[in-house]
Amino acid sequence: MDKEKDKKGKQKREKHIWAIAGGKGGIGKSFVTANLGIALCERGKRVIVVDADLGAANLHTLLGVPQPPLSLDDFIRRGMRNIKAALTETGIPNLQLIAGVHDILTLSNPKQGLKQKIMRHISSLDADHIIVDLGTGMSPHVFDFFLISENGIFLVTPEPTSLENAYRFIRGVFFRRWMNMTTNNNVKKIIETAMDGNNPEGIKTPSDLLAQVGKVDKETATIFKKGMSTFRPRLIINQARNRKEAELGFAVRSVCRKYFGIELSFLGHILYDHNVYLSVQRGRAFFSDYPSSDVAECIRDIAVRLSDGKGLEWSLS
Ligand SMILES: Nc1ncnc2c1ncn2[C@@H]1O[C@H](COP(=O)(O)OP(=O)(O)OP(=O)(O)O)[C@@H](O)[C@H]1O
Ligand SMILES: [Mg+2]
Repeated sequence: MDKEKDKKGKQKREKHIWAIAGGKGGIGKSFVTANLGIALCERGKRVIVVDADLGAANLHTLLGVPQPPLSLDDFIRRGMRNIKAALTETGIPNLQLIAGVHDILTLSNPKQGLKQKIMRHISSLDADHIIVDLGTGMSPHVFDFFLISENGIFLVTPEPTSLENAYRFIRGVFFRRWMNMTTNNNVKKIIETAMDGNNPEGIKTPSDLLAQVGKVDKETATIFKKGMSTFRPRLIINQARNRKEAELGFAVRSVCRKYFGIELSFLGHILYDHNVYLSVQRGRAFFSDYPSSDVAECIRDIAVRLSDGKGLEWSLS
């Protein structure tokens, strides 16, 4: 959350930056980014969606707009001085887009300085909500963007593979957070070992890792432990086919609390609807074609929880 003051010292409107990630490809990260953006605009918010998928950017397609002439690529590689120059109108009132980078494999893992510069520029954009589509995977750059944004939302679908990846993602992002917090090379080495889920030390959970870190640097272990309560990622279940699948978010939350000691906020679910596929095929924004659908209502419910910036939780009624 960013409450800036203008030149006259007046309080400006609050700005919220949400980063959308997930441990698996094709689970709906871009679909959710695009349509959550539209749902927030419906609530009178000014929104910018950013395609930070550095491998296979396609957010513009899900908003029903052609590939914009300028993109994040111009900022990263072609000397564009301010990311603002890449802002593109989407035709949806109050919704702007920064399109992503295509097919630059060398960029799929940018240096820390570049990541911070990109995020600094994204944070300086003028909007009530900025939603950043981080793309797929569990690479350090996705973890870092997730962490820099301060409001990370991760998406899970109800299939076992997506759930497995979700736990790996949470574990990975959490360990990465600790990695970025220390300069002690011995501690870094332990965290690097722990990043491999099948590590010979048997480090699985944050408390296993804390125990190992405590052996070489007690002070750092204490700092790590203290910081645990300030990490509260948010979760959305996408493509739920029934209520049981929708409520899976509560189970994921319990598992994370029990095994990782990490608290999640469960923002809600989005139902499965074949019309999502059809709207993508047509190259149209789902909200434009199916504004009264149950899926649109699910996304609006999540937008309500985000629109005050607090990311309040879904509760059973
Ligand atoms: N709620 C839903 N109901 C039905 N189909 C869905 C839903 N959400 C996503 N999909 C389907 O999943 C496809 C992939 O969605 P999307 O491109 O948003 O995924 P992604 O996670 O961004 O993928 P990538 O990892 O390639 O970036 C969509 O084209 C659509 O067919
Ligand atoms: Mg995508």
